[in-house]
Amino acid sequence: MDKGIVIIDFGSQYNKLIARRIREADVYAEVVPCTMPLEEILSKNPVGIILSGGPSSVLQENAFVIDKAVYEQGIPVLGICYGMQLMAHQLGGKVQKGVKGEYGRSQFHINYKSSLFHNIPQKFDVWMSHFDEVAATPEDFVVIGKSGIEIAAMQNEDKKLYAVQFHPEVYHTQHGTEILHNFVFNICQAEKNWKLENFVEHQIAKIREQVGDKNVILGLSGGVDSSVAGVLLQQAIGEQLTCIFVDTGLLRKDEAAQVMETYGKEMNMNIVHVDAKEDFMQALSGISDPEEKRKIIGRRFIEIFDREAEKLDNVDFLSQGTIYPDVIESQSVKGPSATIKSHHNVGGLPEYMKLQLVEPLRELFKDEVRQVGEALGISKTQVMRHPFPGPGLGIRILGEVNAEKIEILQNADAIFIEELRNAGWYEKVSQAFVVLLPVKSVGVMGDERTYAYTAVIRSADTTDFMTATWSRLPYDLLDKISSRIINEVPGINRVAYDISSKPPATIEWE
Ligand code: XMP
Repeated sequence: MDKGIVIIDFGSQYNKLIARRIREADVYAEVVPCTMPLEEILSKNPVGIILSGGPSSVLQENAFVIDKAVYEQGIPVLGICYGMQLMAHQLGGKVQKGVKGEYGRSQFHINYKSSLFHNIPQKFDVWMSHFDEVAATPEDFVVIGKSGIEIAAMQNEDKKLYAVQFHPEVYHTQHGTEILHNFVFNICQAEKNWKLENFVEHQIAKIREQVGDKNVILGLSGGVDSSVAGVLLQQAIGEQLTCIFVDTGLLRKDEAAQVMETYGKEMNMNIVHVDAKEDFMQALSGISDPEEKRKIIGRRFIEIFDREAEKLDNVDFLSQGTIYPDVIESQSVKGPSATIKSHHNVGGLPEYMKLQLVEPLRELFKDEVRQVGEALGISKTQVMRHPFPGPGLGIRILGEVNAEKIEILQNADAIFIEELRNAGWYEKVSQAFVVLLPVKSVGVMGDERTYAYTAVIRSADTTDFMTATWSRLPYDLLDKISSRIINEVPGINRVAYDISSKPPATIEWE
């Protein structure tokens, strides 16, 4: 990575956001662990280094540190939160425990002219999250801003060392992106030479280096993330990649055929197509509890994947389309917060498989993954597809799942999606699908009384899938969707629209 910015990771959950803000400005940014030797960091030829935030305290024994020589390289350094405290501590300033800390919104006042704050107003709101604070700057530093604490930002302009206690990368910090850009462009003089094509090239080289002449397997689901990862690997190592596509029978209408057509034929990928429909159907027979269904589907999937992988020789690597939000989510899954739904794809494969991971999309956000997909030649229709949960229609058929209900749901869902596409709404909403309720109601069709299932259409608008609102679809469109579903799908005689937000509802119904 020549002429990019290196972000040293001290454990803040926000550090990938810093990288993103910088990449958005067409400058390459890479997050590296704080345990990486300085020599290796410098071998990347960075034009700037950012020390990220982190949950620990520099006053703790065994606190994470970085080689002090980092401050002597003539390369600009920006410390953020923990990064500021670390800089102060390592250069002879004083860090102390705060009285009550500062969490959330706070007002920041610039009190010294700094190139970091070029064209930024004197006062603005910032996002803070710290307990410790810098009580005295190192010698040769000046204080450049205050908030609830006296030393909320500092600099040594000669040595190009800068630090802020707040988080400029967080959305709630006003002018945060401009401050990062001031660092990147005015101070580091970075060039705008980063394009997604570079990412592709860089990752291809990295994958080749990591994998050597060994083989890799990848679970292809047909979803955006695993497909983009698959195509990237295919371009890097060709025949050394084998994709395993498990058709659970719980996919959208015609999806299995489409996956084989697009990726198997058009993209020429090596795909083992496992028809496991019967297998899943039997396993789910008689089961109606949502968590039990999720667990059964997850377990079965891994068993089948494992069985297929066993048949291949010389496989040392497993590739996954893990993206950055998955990394964050699985951290909270493993943490103390309650499991709301068990996402089967986060648990991963059994330990004994002993495969090393190849996760080329781990640093990217969803929209970046889509851009990479397009750069790799995947069609826009494929890369813009809505997310689809691992357990598939198994959790969109409430209660017990059977072949008849799957067919009904697939047909209704296909109509809904087709109508959204025709009306130009598909790409405006984040995720849309139909849910089949185990509830029958009375209706009338022609002169006939009907007694059939109720379908619910769900369409959610969200940026991060952690919170969401229901899409304000036009009444006329809803009307058309409802009448087509009722007229064209035997087994459904009533359609309802889900107008619940998340929270307190979730996007999926189970
Ligand atoms: P919820 O229902 O929790 O869904 O609001 C948030 C997002 O996650 C998707 N989802 C899953 N994705 N495996 C997945 O890969 C799963 O088990 C799973 N469960 C929910 C859901 O479709 C939505 O996009």
